[in-house]
Order: sequence, then structure tokens, then C-alpha cells
Amino acid sequence: MPVQRTLFGRPVTLTVPPLRFQLLFAFILLTIVSLLTVGPPPAVPTYDQVADAVKNPHIPNLPEVNLPAVKNPFGKSAHKPPVQANSTASSSYRAIEWFSDFKWRNPFSSSVTLDENRAVLPPLKERPPIYTFYDPKGKVDKTVSEAENRLILAWRRAWWAQGFKPQVLSRAEAMKHPRYQLVQRMKLDPKVELEMMRWFAWGHMGGGVLANWLALPMSDYNNAMLSFLRRQEYPDLSRVESLHNGIFFGEGAAVNEAIKKAVNSDLLKNVTANKDKITQLAKKEGGAMVGLLSSADITVDTKANGIAYYSTDNIATKYKTVAEKLTNTTQVEGLQSLADLINSHLHLTFQETYSEGIAIVKPLPEHTTALTYEAIDIARNLTQCPSSPIPKSCPPNRHKCTPCDPNKPMKMALLPSYKNSSALYTIGTVPHPYTLNSLHYTRDTLDASFIRKNAERNLWLIALTKEMLGENHSEGYRVVDFKDAVAAPKGAPNSLWLTAERVTQADLDWIFGFNLPQNASSGGELGAKTGDNGLVVSPRPGMPLPIEGIDVPEERWIKNEEERLKKAREALQSKDRHMQEVVAMVEDWNMYDTEAWKFARAFSARRRVERKKWEEEEREFAGSEKKAGVGGGRWQDRR
Ligand SMILES: *[C@@H]1O[C@H](CO)[C@@H](O)[C@H](O)[C@H]1NC(C)=O
Ligand SMILES: *[C@@H]1O[C@H](CO)[C@@H](O)[C@H](O)[C@H]1NC(C)=O
Ligand SMILES: *[C@@H]1O[C@H](CO)[C@@H](O)[C@H](O)[C@H]1NC(C)=O
Ligand SMILES: *[C@@H]1O[C@H](CO)[C@@H](O)[C@H](O)[C@H]1NC(C)=O
Ligand SMILES: *[C@@H]1O[C@H](CO)[C@@H](O)[C@H](O)[C@H]1NC(C)=O
Ligand SMILES: *[C@@H]1O[C@H](CO)[C@@H](O)[C@H](O)[C@H]1NC(C)=O
Ligand SMILES: *[C@@H]1O[C@H](CO)[C@@H](O)[C@H](O)[C@H]1NC(C)=O
Repeated sequence: MPVQRTLFGRPVTLTVPPLRFQLLFAFILLTIVSLLTVGPPPAVPTYDQVADAVKNPHIPNLPEVNLPAVKNPFGKSAHKPPVQANSTASSSYRAIEWFSDFKWRNPFSSSVTLDENRAVLPPLKERPPIYTFYDPKGKVDKTVSEAENRLILAWRRAWWAQGFKPQVLSRAEAMKHPRYQLVQRMKLDPKVELEMMRWFAWGHMGGGVLANWLALPMSDYNNAMLSFLRRQEYPDLSRVESLHNGIFFGEGAAVNEAIKKAVNSDLLKNVTANKDKITQLAKKEGGAMVGLLSSADITVDTKANGIAYYSTDNIATKYKTVAEKLTNTTQVEGLQSLADLINSHLHLTFQETYSEGIAIVKPLPEHTTALTYEAIDIARNLTQCPSSPIPKSCPPNRHKCTPCDPNKPMKMALLPSYKNSSALYTIGTVPHPYTLNSLHYTRDTLDASFIRKNAERNLWLIALTKEMLGENHSEGYRVVDFKDAVAAPKGAPNSLWLTAERVTQADLDWIFGFNLPQNASSGGELGAKTGDNGLVVSPRPGMPLPIEGIDVPEERWIKNEEERLKKAREALQSKDRHMQEVVAMVEDWNMYDTEAWKFARAFSARRRVERKKWEEEEREFAGSEKKAGVGGGRWQDRR
């Protein structure tokens, strides 16, 4: 007899549910248990994403990039790589962050850094040190020492732009050399002593490259001599023919061996007896130290042509206007004039290196005029003839240069697409996709539905690489080529990429290695004008011609573009949640354009941080911006 069950006193019949319900219960139970133990299921793409993936089947990593990271117990979990030192820069939009790694040629930085905001950049190239020696002994006049410091600053900037780490040594380093006291007791001729102190300071630093601060690199980046010096392997202690004591290079051991030999040389055994001979040493080709050594001790490089040395002889014979001013009463003026001359020669070298001229890239040119203002400003100053005290002069290492002619300045053109040529210098402006879409679709504000319904993806990148890659490459392929143009050793020296949202560009003189002309003669086509300081200033080239076949918008439309650019800048800075969501949506829609923007922005921020850090280290030494009385104002880092 079955047991009668009751509930609240009523009889209950207990029936076993049908099999299908049993299975359903079991499934629900299992799901709950697995949710509790394992976590939520992997994210499911939204309808839009699936639809996009069907339309654009080549887009990789779709859910991974678009959705918040979900902890997946079955997938491989990974730690974020540790944050590297000095790998962030503040910005009014979002912190600029980067990670230097060999895997930088990946279409997506985030797949390496596991961090949406951090761009992967190529490892920072080690800068080989180049030393110069400056001894302000006996120079009490502050204006003279400031003028000399400005010249040394020019020296540091020029070598920095060529990939070196220029450092200014002084007697402080020479005093650390073990033989310093020995030589001081000899009471040598001051010129000979000074030359020995240069070598002592160099020996103390462990060798490398030693240059006079009037020896500057004046050639293209890939010049054989400069490339050799960058490799930091100096098999023989050497000097360069015809550069006198302008430049030496060698390993530390070889330098110190040479110092030992020189100090022990017969001439120095009895200084009083050999006084005249020692004084004559300073005049020898290669300088006093070379005179104390035998010719077997130091090799003479005969093929080097990348370095210009403004030796006293060179100035006296080639640049008489400057030499005349350098006599003692007008020394400050003379030094300033020499600085202007050197700056003009560095600028001229740049102009000659890029014989095809300057390209200002303007992809999607119909509505992006406002994006090109900065680039055109820089390009016009670069193509202007350098301001110089002797306009028709050539650098000392190239007697057959083509001096700049104000009536036929360097070429400059707007191009709708990037052109890969080493004779063409490219200046580009990389917009955030929000900025670009707002301009391109002529809309003051963007919203998600407009983007989904109307906007094409990665417009900017595709247009930029059209000429180089044609129609048939994926965006993933294009973005890597773009990264190459920005950062690869072949592309980087030939291009400058600005970001559209950054209002001012600092550091240009460190990137180019010279000061861009800041002054132009107002004579229009009348040609150059001489100021009261003897500087000949040329007219500023006009605006580049519009791209052929593209209608030039009316003034009022351009005004609208400027307005939109301003609004886009504000939108990107907005703290409003809705606005931030729209920006994030636009970024997801244009993943490759966003990647390009992040990459270019991080590359230029890293370059700036590298330089500022180094300027900080050097600020107490001769030739720093602080000592040269510059810094602040134009050099300040404004955003
Ligand atoms: C150096 O030469 C002078 C004159 O030739 C001589 O009088 C002196 O003794 C020499 N000194 C040494 C240390 O040899
Ligand atoms: C200029 O040099 C001459 C000789 O070199 C010297 O006599 C004169 O005192 C110097 N003048 C100044 C202002 O230093
Ligand atoms: C690009 O692809 C199309 C269609 O697949 C083909 O007809 C065309 O020749 C390709 N163009 C190039 C430059 O390869
Ligand atoms: C530009 O061309 C050079 C050789 O002509 C090549 O090595 C380099 O990769 C190219 N750069 C880009 C960005 O494609
Ligand atoms: C270019 O030169 C003009 C004056 O001719 C100056 O106002 C401007 O600041 C310069 N721009 C740069 C980037 O040096
Ligand atoms: C620019 O040139 C004008 C004359 O052409 C001159 O008066 C002015 O001082 C110069 N400015 C600078 C910064 O060199
Ligand atoms: C670089 O990093 C070091 C240590 O992390 C820090 O002390 C220094 O201030 C940083 N320099 C710059 C320019 O950010």
C-alpha cells in the first residue's frame, strides 16, 4: 500500500515528470552549476558585428578587439608586459602610451600589449655617443660664452638629428684621467695642452667619436661615413683627411694607448729644451696629439665626406664676411654670424638631399584643407631659402653645392597619397577617425547610427596608401606599411607625421637639426633682403598649388572645416559619457585608422620624451638650451 503524502493536510499525488522535462531540468541545473564555477560564457558578438564580419570577412580578431575583455578559463591567459620606463606622455586627449618591442610590425598593437591604448613602437635605436670638448677657461665675458653655447647647441642639435648622442666634455673629465697631473707639471704651450686635454677627456669616456664643436654632419642620413660612425665599431684609431683635428674615432683602449705614447714621447721628455718644436706641433695636420704620435699609430680616412668642419683656416679663406667680424671687438656678432652660416648650410644640405622636394600628403582632399595648415607652414619654411650672412656659399665639405635661389626654391606639392621615395620628404597629418569622419562627411557631430549607416571604414589609411599599394590590399597590410613609413629605419628620416589634434609642434629643430627660418623678406618676388645684422633673408614661398582635379572649396566652406576641426578636438577631450561612447564607437568602426593614429602619436611622443629626458641630463653642461639662453617660449612643450 503506497504511502499517502500530504501537504498542509491535503493529500498530494507525486507523479514522476515526463522524460523531456527531466532532461530540461538537468540541463538548467548543469548550466547554473557551470556558470557558478566557470564564469559567464564567452561573449557573443552583437548583430552588427556579425553583419560587419560577413560584409568584411578579412577583419581579424573581431570580438577580441571590440568587446571588453572577458576572462576565459579555457583560453590562454596572459600577463600584460611590464610598463617600460618613460613610456607615457600626458596629452589633453588621453595619455599617450607606448611599448618598445621587436614585434612592432603587427597590425594591432593591442595584440602585443593587451592594452587598448598602448602602441607598440620599434625598439629605440641606441644612440652612439659623440663627444666634443669645450673649455671656457679665461672667458669671462658672459655674452661671448652665451654665443659660444649657442654654437655648441647647434652642434648638439645637428648630431642629435643624425641619430647620435652628443655630449660636451670639459676639463672636469680630463682631470679624471690618470695622467692629468703628469702633463700639468710639464707646463706645456696652452694650445698643445688644450689638445691633450681633449684627448684625456675622450680617453676618460672610453673612446668613441671625438669632434670639434665646429665639426657638424652635413649630408643625408645614410651617408657612408655617418652610417659607419653609428655602428660604433672603430677598428683603428683614425682621423679624417683634410678635417685636421675636427674628428677622431677609436676604441677606448686605442685612445688611452695613444695618450700613453704621446705623454712618453721624446719631445715631452725635456719640455724646456724642445719648447719651439712643441709649439709648432699645434700647427700640424691632425693637431698636436697626432704630431706627438707616429703615423703608424693613427689611420687617415680618405673617403669621408659627410662632415663639415668650420676650422679657423676654413673660415678665414672661405667665409671672409664672418671672419672679419670674429676679431675681438665684434666677437659676439661674429659668433652669431657663424651660427647663422652653419644653420644655413645645414638647411641647404636638407634641401639638396631631397631633390624631389617636399610632399604634403592630403588624403581625401575634398574636405580636409584645415588639416594641412601645420604641415604647409612647416613645408613653406623648409622650402624657403635659408637666411644666411653669405647666401651663395657652400658648406666646407661640398664645394660644388647648388646654392638656393629665391626665384627657384625647393619644390613643394600637395599629394593625395603617400609616395615612397628617398628623394622626397613627406609631411603628413594623421587625424583621429572622429576628426576625419566629421570633416569628410561634413558633419559637426557624429553619432553611432550615422556611422553605421553611412561611413566607410578606415577611409584615411586606404586613401593614404592607394598610390603605393593599389586597391587590392587589406587594411592590415596597409597599416604595417604605414608604420614602416613612420618608424622603419628607411622611412623615418624621410618623413614627419603630425597629429591633427595637436595644436603646436615642438622639437622641429631637433628633428631637422637646424632652425627653420622664422623671418621672411616681405618683398614678395623681389628677392632677398639684407638686415642690419648682415643676414640675408629670403621671401617665403607661397601656398602649394591645389591637387589637380580636386575643386578648391570656397572660403566659407574652409571656415566650416576649421570649426569642425575645433569641435572634433573638443569631442575627443570630452568627459561626457555619451560623447566618449561615440568616440569609442568611431574607433571600433575604424580600427586601422585608429591604430595608425595611435602609432604616429606615440612615435612622436616617444621622440619628444627621449629628447627631453636627455636635455634634463645635460642641462648643467655647456651647449644645453639652458646655457645657451634659449628654452621657454617656442621651445616649451605646449599642447
Ligand atoms: C733639458 O735640456 C736643457 C738644455 O738642453 C738641459 O739644460 C737640462 O738639463 C735638460 N733637462 C733634463 C731633465 O734633461
Ligand atoms: C683686441 O686684440 C688686441 C690684440 O690682439 C688687443 O691689444 C686688444 O686689447 C683687444 N681688445 C679687446 C677689447 O679685447
Ligand atoms: C585587383 O583585384 C581585381 C579583382 O580581383 C583585379 O581585377 C585587378 O586586376 C586587381 N588589381 C591589381 C592591381 O592587382
Ligand atoms: C620604400 O621603398 C623601399 C625600397 O625602395 C623599401 O625598402 C621600403 O620598405 C618602402 N617603404 C614602404 C613604407 O613601403
Ligand atoms: C614659419 O615662418 C613664419 C614666418 O615666416 C613663422 O611665423 C612661423 O612660425 C614659422 N613656422 C615654423 C613651423 O617654423
Ligand atoms: C625679421 O626681419 C625684420 C626685417 O626684415 C627685422 O626687423 C626683424 O628684427 C627680424 N626678426 C627676427 C626675429 O629676426
Ligand atoms: C623617466 O623615468 C624616470 C624613472 O622612471 C623618472 O625619474 C624620470 O622623471 C622620467 N623622465 C621623464 C622625462 O619622464
